[in-house]
Amino acid sequence: MCGIFGIVVEKEQPLGQILTEAGLRLSYRGYDSVGCATLQENGVIDLRKDVGKVDEVAARLRFAEMAGLRGITQLRWATFGAPSQINAQPHLDSDGDLVGAHNGNVVNNVALRQQFITEGMMVRSTNDGESCVHAVERYVDQGYDMVDAIRRAYHDLEGDYAFVIGRVGENRLYAFKKGSGLVAGLSEEFTCVSSDLPSILPLTRRILRVQDGEIVILRAGQVELRRVEDGSLVEREIEQVTESMEAAEKGGYSHFMLKEIHEQPGVAGELIHLLEASSHIAPMIERIAKARHLYLVGCGTSYHACMLGAVYLARLAGRAAIPVLAPQFIPQYGPALGPEDVGIFVSQSGETKDVLNALAVAREREMGILGLVNVLGSTLMNVSEYYLPLACGYEISVPATKTFTNQAVAFLYLALRMGGHSTEPLARLPNLLEETLALVEPQAAALEPVMAGQDDLYCLGYGLTYPIALEGALKLKEVTYAHCEGMLSTEFKHGPLSAVYEGYPVIFVAGPEDVSLLVSGINETTCRGGQAIVIGEENEQLRVNAHDLILLPSAGPLLNPLLATLPLQLLSYRLSLARGYDPDFPRNLSKTLTVD
Ligand code: AGP
Repeated sequence: MCGIFGIVVEKEQPLGQILTEAGLRLSYRGYDSVGCATLQENGVIDLRKDVGKVDEVAARLRFAEMAGLRGITQLRWATFGAPSQINAQPHLDSDGDLVGAHNGNVVNNVALRQQFITEGMMVRSTNDGESCVHAVERYVDQGYDMVDAIRRAYHDLEGDYAFVIGRVGENRLYAFKKGSGLVAGLSEEFTCVSSDLPSILPLTRRILRVQDGEIVILRAGQVELRRVEDGSLVEREIEQVTESMEAAEKGGYSHFMLKEIHEQPGVAGELIHLLEASSHIAPMIERIAKARHLYLVGCGTSYHACMLGAVYLARLAGRAAIPVLAPQFIPQYGPALGPEDVGIFVSQSGETKDVLNALAVAREREMGILGLVNVLGSTLMNVSEYYLPLACGYEISVPATKTFTNQAVAFLYLALRMGGHSTEPLARLPNLLEETLALVEPQAAALEPVMAGQDDLYCLGYGLTYPIALEGALKLKEVTYAHCEGMLSTEFKHGPLSAVYEGYPVIFVAGPEDVSLLVSGINETTCRGGQAIVIGEENEQLRVNAHDLILLPSAGPLLNPLLATLPLQLLSYRLSLARGYDPDFPRNLSKTLTVD
């Protein structure tokens, strides 16, 4: 996810402390590496950067000494390319006249780097933030001023990013964005710009939100907005922010869980962009195609993603895959493992001990090791021959939400590509996720009174929605402390149906292909007085048979499971609050379980 901050002041002064504090406030966006650059009145750029956390690097490289009229700081959350000093940001252009930093992902980075090298530029790293600097350099070298150079560079840079850049000899900074967040702050003495409010609010509460297709030009005490399209001025009201700092870190949401639920359309879109440009996809497909047995290995929510991934792989690529809980992998399959087998290990943290134990045996048996991982530089990433990043940025809330969705997106993308299908259907997903959130929030709110007092529940699914039923049950357990069992809907009648009494709520997750089968299960429940709460697309049979229908947009069987997860996440969140708990940090749990 990364984070950027830039500031322009009226007269030369120490900026190191301001930049460090801004970095610390953005560190929830990742801190694989951090860097600061100050542009001094005498034309010198003081650039200091390294791998490590903000406070460590700031002390080691003595950020506090840095002074100037302008300053930039950047925290890197490695998405492609391991964290390193050379990949740390900010970056210089070939001659050291420009310095800039970005957050997000420039998906055509590899091609751009090749162009810049061919054009004779000094390309020092593999980081896409450096490509942003050279993209502007290209047009400055052709004689354009900074605004016109940026207007042209903007179209060369594909992906989701925000970028800030400064040029020696001018007392201003320029910033622009495509997809990612960018906001400017103003005061009499200085102006600043950042990926997010937490780094701005302690300095000023007067802000200006920047939109895609705009360039913000910062001078001390003055901010100007211009259109990329024609360079014309944009008039926009300055906002006065009243929210607290804590609320700002949560993006105005009351909890990280709710913020991360709402980040899903954005991070899913970023991941799809990244996968389109990933150089790991083809070799992963090759490894999987040659595998004798393919195992999908994870724990908790990541295991549920493995279950959904197995359905996608079988259905779209004709490839059977065995989803297995990491601790069960060895006792169940250990003796059968060999070099001709492949494992896809799935872990948000990349450090879950149960997964690392399974990895260790897989390595001993010389299996192929592939990874789906959110935290790059983690153990899982480092031991994977090939990996796909989840590109979610930090998931702070203990309950996994956005990382589950992006694990499922990664599997769906892999299965589509492996089966030779177009990945075009995924293009609709970010908007469908957005539409689903808007649709189901009021529906989840309406169910809160019905379910808040319920201490035991069932959550049933079938086929593609069976993993979603399990994931929904886990969310409900995790944040409401109620007992909720996820189950195959057809299994319910083989015993657990005895739990049903008058008014007893049972959740059904109905995929569009399995409505008739689910309606049987629904009626087996409702004819005994149970209350059927159904999650599904518009359907006459569901409407007639369900007590409550939580409606989803029509998306088809492949995307439906991803949409169906959202009401379960929101319902869990609401019920947790209704029961007086903190959904972000449920009792007894931790985000990463590095113990057996
Ligand atoms: C999910 O909400 C839980 N936080 C938990 O089940 C989690 O998915 C599990 O511990 C695996 O974590 P990992 O993805 O980091 O390996």
